[in-house]
Parts: sequence; C-alpha cells; structure tokens
Amino acid sequence: MRLLEERIVQDGLVLGSGVLKVDTFLNHQIDPQLMEEMAIEWKKRLEGVPVTKIVTIESSGIAPALMLAKLYGVEMVFARKQKSITMDDSVYTADVYSFTKQVSRTVTISKQFLSSDDHVVLVDDFLANGEAALGLCDVVEQAGASVSAIAIVIEKSFQPGRKKLDDRNYHVESLARIETLEMDHIEFIHE
Ligand code: G4P
Ligand code: NA
Ligand code: NA
Repeated sequence: MRLLEERIVQDGLVLGSGVLKVDTFLNHQIDPQLMEEMAIEWKKRLEGVPVTKIVTIESSGIAPALMLAKLYGVEMVFARKQKSITMDDSVYTADVYSFTKQVSRTVTISKQFLSSDDHVVLVDDFLANGEAALGLCDVVEQAGASVSAIAIVIEKSFQPGRKKLDDRNYHVESLARIETLEMDHIEFIHE
C-alpha cells in the first residue's frame, strides 16, 4: 500500500537489530485517517472472504482492527495479555512466546465473544516471528471458529513469521512488506 509505505519511509525510524519505530502514526500516536485508508485497502483485498468478527491483540492492533470492524459492520474483540479482574474462567487462552522480549505470556479471550459460527479476520500491527498471530489463530480455532484471513499492517518479511503462516495455509494480507530494513534504506516487496 503506497500511502503506508510512504509514511514508513517519511516517519519511520530504523533502530538497530531490525526494529522499526513507528510511534508517530501507529504504536503511540495514531493517525485515524491512515487507519481508515488501511481498513479500506484490507476490505478491498478480502473481497469474497466471509467475515463475522474482527479479532486482534492489545494494544497496537486495536486501532486498525476497530476501523476494519466498523467497515464490515461487525464486532471487534481484542485478546488480553493480562487477565482482567472482571474476567471469569470461561476463557480461551494461548501461550505466546516473544523472541524479542524472551518471555512467554498468555493471551486470553472470553468464550462468550467467539462462536463456532464465526469467520474471523485477525489484525495485528507487526508480523515478525508470527508467534502472536499463531496464538490468535489457536484461540479462534479453540472456539470452533475459522480464521478467514490475517490482516497485517507491517510485515518484516526477513523474519520467519510470514513463512510460518503461509506454511499453515493462512490467507495473509500485509499492507507493507519490508524486505530490507536499514537506517538509510528501506526496501519493500511488491507482488
Ligand atoms: P511476534 O508476535 O511476531 O513473534 O513478535 P515479537 O515477539 O517479535 O514482537 C513482540 C512485540 O514487538 C509485539 O508488540 C510486536 O508487534 C512488536 N514488534 C515486532 N517487531 C517490531 C518492529 O520492528 N517495530 C515495532 N514498533 N514493534 C515490533 P507487543 O509487545 O505485543 O506490543 P503492543 O504494541 O501491541 O502493545
Ligand atoms: Na506492537
Ligand atoms: Na501487536
């Protein structure tokens, strides 16, 4: 998606170790106009795909996921990384290992918000190692629901996540696919 790629080049800050800082429009301050354009682009790419629910993980997936849910006229659910005090035990959980942070954490969604009739589009801000996405797939499938597609804002194609999802035959739509991430040079993959 050209608009997003331009924004990444303009505002993104490449930190060492292959990390892209996008705090000006996605991970801290959020650009609602861009979020809306992204949702429109996902929906266009997902034409014909059944969608009854949007699922993401807190916190940075929530803004783009909400825009997409609004476009489809369906509910959005975000998986929690910490158990809420109001949450009872009727939950689906998956353990997600973060290679970046070298910790495992449990992501949780209340059973009441997913049913076996659901066709879910998963949304996340980054696809790196793919562990968060696979954890969300696990949670959705525990409910007997199906994963219709995985909608990613920024895919770091040089990390293993995309291949893991492709190998399991998930339909992945990444709006920006970064092949090379260097301080003075970012290269995108275009199909
Ligand atoms: P994985 O799910 O793909 O395996 O991701 P990984 O453990 O590598 O990443 C952990 C966190 O770091 C995730 O956010 C992920 O979105 C984020 N992340 C990964 N690569 C980058 C990057 O290049 N730039 C930025 N800005 N973030 C990256 P999180 O801890 O779940 O945080 P939140 O922002 O969603 O609250
Ligand atoms: Na993040
Ligand atoms: Na995230």
